[in-house]
Amino acid sequence: MSTPPNADFICFAHRGASGHEPENTLLSFRRALELGARWIELDVRVVEGEAIIFHDRTLARRARCGGVVEKQSLTYLRSLDVGKGERIPLLSEVLELVKGRAALQIELKGGGSASIVAAIISGCLIEGWLPESFLISSFEYKEIAEIKRLQPAIPVGLLPRGYPDNLVEVAHALGAVSVHLSIDSVIPARIKELHAAGLKVFVYTVNDPVDLKALRAAGIDGVFTDFPERVIITGGSN
Ligand code: G3P
Ligand code: MG
Repeated sequence: MSTPPNADFICFAHRGASGHEPENTLLSFRRALELGARWIELDVRVVEGEAIIFHDRTLARRARCGGVVEKQSLTYLRSLDVGKGERIPLLSEVLELVKGRAALQIELKGGGSASIVAAIISGCLIEGWLPESFLISSFEYKEIAEIKRLQPAIPVGLLPRGYPDNLVEVAHALGAVSVHLSIDSVIPARIKELHAAGLKVFVYTVNDPVDLKALRAAGIDGVFTDFPERVIITGGSN
């Protein structure tokens, strides 16, 4: 039997095992761990100086009520049911859950979130977490630059909108180790270009096994998926 390509293929449990449980909740992260995920992706916003885990800018989809997340009080946000009776978690609660069991791909959603997350990570490093247990990404390049400035040892990844011409240049300027592409913008020439520039290529959100097979064959380095078991079963468990 030949060795499969991409033996180090990474499976990021996207918002936890969000195909099974309410996204970005402790239930979803717990389920991802149970399914064997070794990397968990989550979305961070900052409210009243606390890093909370929430994807959307507004509350409508997840909590079925009005309002912009960052304009609410932390007490109010923590009182909401975001599915199956789950509450919006704090980053500190997730860290406690996953410590020693998985690495975290933290996506910074809100402006100004980098400094709070950098301070939390600083505490983690003192507690014994390894820098490579984290990968920080953002669509907001300013946030990536700020994380890199405050915590230079922590790996960062670039989340571009589409595929700009100067992507490699920007990734290098920010000290990124990876580029996270939407499944709609992956083509072999881009994978080749990014690999030639020494960058890993991670693709979101890959839930269809047919897409997964094609992307693996094309040589990408990992996927974000709502169903980690679909990736892990094909050999991407780290
Ligand atoms: O980080 C990959 C992916 O999560 C980016 O998009 O909208 O799911 O946060 P989104
Ligand atoms: Mg995300």
